[in-house]
Amino acid sequence: MSMDGRTCVITGSARGIGRGIAEYLGDEGANVVINYRSSEEAAHEAVDAIESAGGSAVAAQADVSNRADVEHMREVCHEAFGQCDVLVNNAGITADKQFTEMSREEWDRVMDVNLGGMFNCTQVFYDDIWNAHEGRLINISSVVGKQGNFGQANYAAAKSGMFGFTRTIALEFAKGGSTANCVAPGFTATDMVTSVPDHVLDRIIAEIPLERLAEVEDIAAVVRFLASEDSSYVTGEVIDVNGGMDL
Ligand SMILES: NC(=O)c1ccc[n+]([C@@H]2O[C@H](COP(=O)([O-])OP(=O)(O)OC[C@H]3O[C@@H](n4cnc5c(N)ncnc54)[C@H](OP(=O)(O)O)[C@@H]3O)[C@@H](O)[C@H]2O)c1
Repeated sequence: MSMDGRTCVITGSARGIGRGIAEYLGDEGANVVINYRSSEEAAHEAVDAIESAGGSAVAAQADVSNRADVEHMREVCHEAFGQCDVLVNNAGITADKQFTEMSREEWDRVMDVNLGGMFNCTQVFYDDIWNAHEGRLINISSVVGKQGNFGQANYAAAKSGMFGFTRTIALEFAKGGSTANCVAPGFTATDMVTSVPDHVLDRIIAEIPLERLAEVEDIAAVVRFLASEDSSYVTGEVIDVNGGMDL
């Protein structure tokens, strides 16, 4: 198995895309830290699912926008498995409003989790990834960070911000042999998207050349490649997984 013995911390991995990534990496032999903010029951189910498939996992509660929580998550990781080899910054939220109606609080909330969480987790696990043999940082951005999206000025700004951050950390990591990359999913079948009204969803799907939403496995397969040694010479990139939305 390609991830045998590697320790992976995946933020926001009790459900949605993060859960898909966690199970995929667990199946490949990784030790997985399932991070959750509020989905405690789902986090324990995710641990059970990975362990029943023969893998190793532990749950760690942390709000990624809270530095002390993230430091505690590192302790949980170190106690269970030792240093983190792969960090996937996946936790993210939206707070959509047309820009003229958007409050400063909605702007700040989205920045605090999507960018602030990435800042906290990357800094707290930086030394682990640096010291790992071929450490990996993988940031989950979005097609919305490239294209923008009506009513998502805060989210689009946060998701584009991930691109510049990732390229910079890629440069800083390069001397030590670790890499940093972004994955930019298109619209994916999780709570974040399936909660939109059917007529909006139909309009979204009509604009996807492959004529379907992504499944979490579509995103997880690309993350697995970036997390593995197969991607040793790929760094500072944004990999689109969007069914051809920018063709
Ligand atoms: N779905 C899409 O179409 C799509 C497309 C492009 C990019 N993305 C990105 O992919 C990532 C995952 O999205 P998703 O669709 O799986 O979203 P989701 O179903 O809404 O799940 C969000 C996840 O983020 C976690 N989370 C939110 N705030 C957190 C915080 N402060 N601290 C720790 N965890 C937190 C949630 O944990 P709890 O449940 O424990 O609170 C949950 O696990 C996000 O970064 C999103 O922006 C999604």
